[in-house]
Amino acid sequence: MDTAEQERTAGARDEEIRLDTLGSSTLTIEPVPADTPVIITIDGPAGTGKSTVARMLASRLGLDFLDTGAMYRAATAIVIDHGLRGDLEAGVYGRILEKVIDADLHFDWQADPPAILAWLKPLNERIRQRDVTGLVSKLSTIGTLRKHMVQKQRIIGHQHPRLVTEGRDQGSVAFPDAEVKFYLDAEPRVRAHRRALQLGESGVVVDEQTMLGEILERDRIDSTRSDGPLVCPADAIVIDTSDLTIEEVVEAMAVHAEQRVGWSSRDDS
Ligand code: DC
Repeated sequence: MDTAEQERTAGARDEEIRLDTLGSSTLTIEPVPADTPVIITIDGPAGTGKSTVARMLASRLGLDFLDTGAMYRAATAIVIDHGLRGDLEAGVYGRILEKVIDADLHFDWQADPPAILAWLKPLNERIRQRDVTGLVSKLSTIGTLRKHMVQKQRIIGHQHPRLVTEGRDQGSVAFPDAEVKFYLDAEPRVRAHRRALQLGESGVVVDEQTMLGEILERDRIDSTRSDGPLVCPADAIVIDTSDLTIEEVVEAMAVHAEQRVGWSSRDDS
């Protein structure tokens, strides 16, 4: 283990959330006041419940919600639907970048959750389909594309300075100065089970063992790429969600965010 990695691990342990301390909390967590800018980043692997808790946390605290995975998924759908899959597989990225830039990916912030648009049209469920999920990690290794996405995310951060943003590199690359950073993790088996359930709800039946294999492969690609790999930022608060409900995770995050930023009135009675 190198020094930076040790630092990450040590930092993570210091900050690991102890839920037993939350029950006795006397804090009343109010939404963040409208004049208080705060960026909260949530990173972690697939199946940790990141998107759901990010969305709920944003709603709980009155902040906007950015799903950066949707941006990479949208780019992948564009690649497949415009016949550029061969380029991606061959490692030829020029036309891919051109096409994605041309699509002018952005969000409709009136929708809840914000809907991603390409060429001004919502992509809707296309970005969640299995061919997209199967290829998105590969596309996410393209350094030039990541630079483009991070630039867009920072612009969004300027336009929406009260934001919960989730992905793989939000605390480490996109918003290194974020006020609050979280890193969510869970045991791979739990993550595979959750993903299988999620797909089952949308009518797609998948075997959990197959799901586990796919999740581990996606983790491997996401954490070993050279640009913006999945890492736990040294100053992130780590939460293992394996044995927690979504509500417990959101509550823990709200309490910790308030403790970091301190916007609520205290009720110590
Ligand atoms: O969170 P998700 O499953 O929707 O993400 C889809 C893929 O996008 C994931 O395999 C990695 C990639 N991704 C990324 O590389 N960087 C981000 N900030 C967000 C997602």
